[in-house]
Amino acid sequence: MTQATAEAQPNIALIKYWGKRDVERNLPAVDSLSVTLRSLRTRMSVEFSAESGIDQLQVNDAQAPALLRRVSTCLDTVCGRDRPAARVVSDSNFPIGAGLASSAAAFAALVVAADAASGHARDCITLARLAGRASGSAARSLYGGIVALRNSAANIDVKQIATPEEWPLEVVIAVTEEGAKPLGSGDAMIRSAATSPFYASWLSAQGTDFDTARTAVRNRDFASLAAVSEHNCLKMHSVMWTSRPAVVYWTRATLACMETIRKLQGDGVPVFFTIDAGPQVKAVCLPEAAEAVNSALAETAGVLRTLPSGLGPGARVLAET
Ligand code: PMV
Repeated sequence: MTQATAEAQPNIALIKYWGKRDVERNLPAVDSLSVTLRSLRTRMSVEFSAESGIDQLQVNDAQAPALLRRVSTCLDTVCGRDRPAARVVSDSNFPIGAGLASSAAAFAALVVAADAASGHARDCITLARLAGRASGSAARSLYGGIVALRNSAANIDVKQIATPEEWPLEVVIAVTEEGAKPLGSGDAMIRSAATSPFYASWLSAQGTDFDTARTAVRNRDFASLAAVSEHNCLKMHSVMWTSRPAVVYWTRATLACMETIRKLQGDGVPVFFTIDAGPQVKAVCLPEAAEAVNSALAETAGVLRTLPSGLGPGARVLAET
């Protein structure tokens, strides 16, 4: 096969990855735990052809020269530097580069498509490690449901720890800006490691947060997962804020969404927030609360639209039609 199409869903970390222990190999400094979404998706089609000479990338119907280098490097990692040139076409049903984990979905899908197109058929953990080289969070999108990523010796281990059926959490994303973020997470986390006075304590407490979240998932203990996830998110943003220059992704709308979620919690609604490298707020809730959470966020000042989603599958090759 010289052509293949794969689909991957973005994932949202509840216990965050922020910081690299090896910049060259893009290995994370900390363990992380995430949920893979269902409704948001990126499709990536890769076609190798000896004739074209140079790699080409099309993202959502437009040429994307700025993103091409990262894509070419990822293809080299999967297929070797002596591979034929590739034509890559990517299509997402949500805003990209805006803190909605678009790179996680994109690189997970790219690695799976490139592997199939080059006839390798590697196993899931090998593909996850290859995706992690391009974007640390992409390794988690190889798996569905609730996913744990742990550092192990010279590499990472990634595992599904609950299927979507075992704990059908719902996520409502409050989109507050559609545009691309000013600073990519890769550069921002290198800056944090070099300059934030809080970085060392962020690293040292991550194991405890990860274990608490892991136990909460095992026991389906929503209140405990909520408490540790919000705490972990706020710590990550404290590290960002205290970097020099400061890395601040929040806007007025981000804070308004947090206030909405605090109010829902005050009314006894099982929901919590998490925020990544962007101004969007992700609300995680139990299924019975999804409608109330969605309408409260949709009515919040500065929210452009909401994207509700259950938990979904890991990255996979799509059958050709
Ligand atoms: O994988 P990257 O380089 O997109 O970094 C992801 C960083 C966060 O989204 C902020 C946290 C995470 O664990 O996904």
